[in-house]
Amino acid sequence: KPRVFSGIQPSGGLTLGNYLGALKRFAAFQGTGPETIYCLVDLHALTVWQDPALLADRTREAAAAFMAAGVDPKQSILFNQSQVPAHAELAWLFNTVARLGWMNRMTQFKDKAGKNSENVSLGLYAYPALMAADILAYHGTLVPVGEDQKQHVELTRDIAAKFNHDYGTEFFPSPEPLIEGAATRVMSLRDGSKKMSKSDPSDASRINLTDDADAISQKIRKARTDAEPLPGRMSDLAARPEARNLVNIYAALTDETPDAVLARFEGQGFGAFKPALSEVAVATLGPITRRMQEYLADPAEIDRILGDGAMRADAIAHPIVEETKAIMGLLRSR
Ligand code: TYM
Repeated sequence: KPRVFSGIQPSGGLTLGNYLGALKRFAAFQGTGPETIYCLVDLHALTVWQDPALLADRTREAAAAFMAAGVDPKQSILFNQSQVPAHAELAWLFNTVARLGWMNRMTQFKDKAGKNSENVSLGLYAYPALMAADILAYHGTLVPVGEDQKQHVELTRDIAAKFNHDYGTEFFPSPEPLIEGAATRVMSLRDGSKKMSKSDPSDASRINLTDDADAISQKIRKARTDAEPLPGRMSDLAARPEARNLVNIYAALTDETPDAVLARFEGQGFGAFKPALSEVAVATLGPITRRMQEYLADPAEIDRILGDGAMRADAIAHPIVEETKAIMGLLRSR
């Protein structure tokens, strides 16, 4: 039975990359058939130190962003990870299945750990096994993510396959990464070779979901570009990463193909394109930011929604973890 599962770390404000690569697509899966389960992965956020006074607020803010982007907590299950014990429990079981060699190949760990990997948390290293647990605790089969999470979903498939092989079962399905649309990898506005990220030290490199119209326009105006006019087709932008990025963002915001956008702007420069992009960005993000603020005005209601989601999530995940333990031979006497 197909089931959509995805998650976002509540470790700071969300960006336009999170919105176009993930949130917007999460909402689109609702009502298409499969059950949709969306998780604020606060246990993942802890892999780098979080200020305890801020983490709960950031979790509420991320929940507000999901709902403002169209995730309906009645149609979908929306909850934060730490309220459902299955995630941490299955992650331990998967730590015994995953191989060190697999973890050593994870490019996100290498990027985040840098040269001084002696001093990062063990959790940061084990993180992909927790992500596999997130997905497989629900027998998730469809995983909408941005390009940067592809390797982690592939590792999830490897863990599922090795578990099934080692225990002679077909218990876990093989989840598929869904990486679709024009904005699977939104790049920094300051450097077309870097991903747009909430952890980039330069705020000008990203559009935050909490930015107002002035901030959005200013960041787009200052976005790095070249001086060439736009061509008529994406294939002619191969060597112009900054230009490609802005066209992809425009296309993802308006649900067009990048080629359809270029067909309208062919021959024009960024003096014309950037104001047009600002206009669609403000028109799309403005209402989302406003709805976010409305949700955030009632934090107790957000907590109630996440608590309800956690109960529904637990009802699915708990029996799957119990069955996993039974398959592995763990004694159960009550
Ligand atoms: P995170 O929190 O870094 O990002 C959340 C989602 O946003 C996507 N994304 C982007 N997409 C396009 N362009 C960008 N610049 C950009 N930046 C981020 C990410 O690909 C992701 O889909 N490990 C995950 C969270 C996670 C998860 C899971 C995802 C934990 N468990 C289970 C799916 C299934 C992460 O850190 O995403």
